[in-house]
Amino acid sequence: MTSRINSPMIVVSNRLPFILKRNQDGVLERHHSAGGLVTAVAPVVIANRGTWVGWPGIQMNSESEAIPEASADDKSPTSGLKSEQVECVTVAKELFDPYYNGCCNGTFWPLMHSMPDRAVFSAETYDAYRKVNEVFAQRTVMALKKCLAKLDAEGHMDVAPLVWIHDYQLMLAATMVRRACEEEGLRCKMSFFHHIPFPAWDIMRLFPWDDEILEGILGCDLVGFHIDDYCINFLDCCQRRLGCRVDRTRFLLELDGRTIHVKSLPIGIPYDHFAEMGRSAPKILKEKNQKIILGVDRLDYTKGLVNRVKAFERLLEKHPEHVEKVTFFQVAVPSRQDVKEYQQLKEEMDQLIGRINGRFSKPNWSPIRYIFGCISQEQLSAFYRDSAVAIVTPLRDGMNLVAKEFVACQDLSDPGVLMLSPFAGAGGTMQEALIVNPYELDDVAEKMHRALEMPFDERLLRMKHLQRREKLNDVNFWVSSFLQAMGMLPCDLNNNAHN
Ligand code: G6P
Repeated sequence: MTSRINSPMIVVSNRLPFILKRNQDGVLERHHSAGGLVTAVAPVVIANRGTWVGWPGIQMNSESEAIPEASADDKSPTSGLKSEQVECVTVAKELFDPYYNGCCNGTFWPLMHSMPDRAVFSAETYDAYRKVNEVFAQRTVMALKKCLAKLDAEGHMDVAPLVWIHDYQLMLAATMVRRACEEEGLRCKMSFFHHIPFPAWDIMRLFPWDDEILEGILGCDLVGFHIDDYCINFLDCCQRRLGCRVDRTRFLLELDGRTIHVKSLPIGIPYDHFAEMGRSAPKILKEKNQKIILGVDRLDYTKGLVNRVKAFERLLEKHPEHVEKVTFFQVAVPSRQDVKEYQQLKEEMDQLIGRINGRFSKPNWSPIRYIFGCISQEQLSAFYRDSAVAIVTPLRDGMNLVAKEFVACQDLSDPGVLMLSPFAGAGGTMQEALIVNPYELDDVAEKMHRALEMPFDERLLRMKHLQRREKLNDVNFWVSSFLQAMGMLPCDLNNNAHN
C-alpha cells in the first residue's frame, strides 16, 4: 500500500530512481534501476505530487536537455514518475569525478566502513564534494520553490513540503538548503537517511573536515540510521566534536537552539515481491545431490569476498566429502570500476578463484562458479530459492538486503540456511541465521560445513522465524515508520512490526 501523506515530498539522492542511457540515435531513454529504496519511495513521490532530485547516471548534453517520459511498456515502480517530477542534476565531468570517485568512494566509503587505511584524504576532492553538494542543494531549492508556489496557489499556506536527503554522497546538502530557506523565507521539513554505517568518533575525526560534515547533516530535523549503534556513534561525534548537548536516552541533540531527532529505522525489502518471484521462478537445473553455496554482492572490498573464497577453499581441504558435491556460486556485480581499490579487488578475485579452481577441479566439476556481472531478477530469485546456503559475510555493511531477499525467496518444503556476518546491520536482528565472523576463516569453513549438513527441522525453524520478521518489517513499513517519525502520517497507520 502506498502511503498518502499530507504534503509533497522532495527526495534527494545521488542517483535518480532510474538511469538514463542514449540509444543509437543519441536519444535519451529511461532504464529501470532496482533496489528497495526506489521500490518503496517512488510510489510515495508519485502519489503525493513530489519531486526526485538526482544524477541520471550519464553526462547530459546541457542543463536544459529534456528528461524522457517512461515508455509505454515500462512496468517499473518509477513508470508513473512524470518528467516534470524529476530535477536532474548535471555536473561537468571534471567536477563530478573528484566528487564521486574521489571523495564519495575514495574517502567517505572506506572511512564510514571503518577502513581508514583505504581512505584518501584530499582537500581537492573534498572541495569538489562541497561544490557538487551545493549544486544538489540549489536544485532542491528550485524544486521546493515550485512545490511551494503550487501549494500557495491552492491556498495550502500551512503545508510544509518534506525534503528527504539520502546517503553519504550528500552530507552537506541539508545545511545548504536550510541556509537558502532561511535567507529566502521558504518553509519545509528536512530529514536525512544514512544508508551505510556511521563510524565511531575516533574514526570519524580522522577526516580533517569532520565538523563541517556533522554540521552539514544537522541541517535536518530528523537523522535516520539503520541501527542504534550508528545513531550512538553519530551522537558521540556531535557531542565530542561539536560540543552539542545530547540526550542519549531519547536520541535527541541540540545545535544553535534547534532540536534534532536521531532515530534507527532499519530498512526492509519489498518482501511480497521477492516471495512471489521465489514461487514463480523456474527451477535451477542441478546435478543430482549437488548443493549450491550462494554469494551475491557488488564487487566491493567491504563485502568480504576474498575471505569468503579462502574459507571455501578451507572447507574443501578439511571436508573433502564436499568435493564434487558442492559448488560455490558467486555473483559479483561490477561497481565503481574507476576507483583503484575496486580494480585491484577484481584482479585479486580473478587470481584467487583461478588458483582454487585449478587446484580442486575434476573433469565434470569446478568448485567455484563466478560471474563478474549481473543476472536477471528471475534467475536471482531462482538461485535464492534453490541454493542450500547463502553466505552474506561482509566485513562491514550498513544493512545488507541480500540476506533479506534470500529469506523472502525460500520455499519451506526445503529451506536453505543463511550464514550472516555480525558486522552487517542485518546481523543484529536476523538472529536465527548462522552468525559467523568473516575474519575467522576456519570458523567460516566449519559453519559452511554445518550449514550444508543441517537437519531439516532446524533449517525450517530458523527460516520460519526469519521470514516472519522480514515480512513484518518490509520496506513499506520502513517508509511509513519514517513518515510517522517526521509527523507526516497519523500514528495508527504505523503498526506493530520489529520482531
Ligand atoms: C550503496 C550506497 C548507495 C549507492 C550504492 C551503489 O548501497 O548506500 O548510495 O548508490 O551503494 O553504489 P554507486 O556508487 O554505484 O551508486
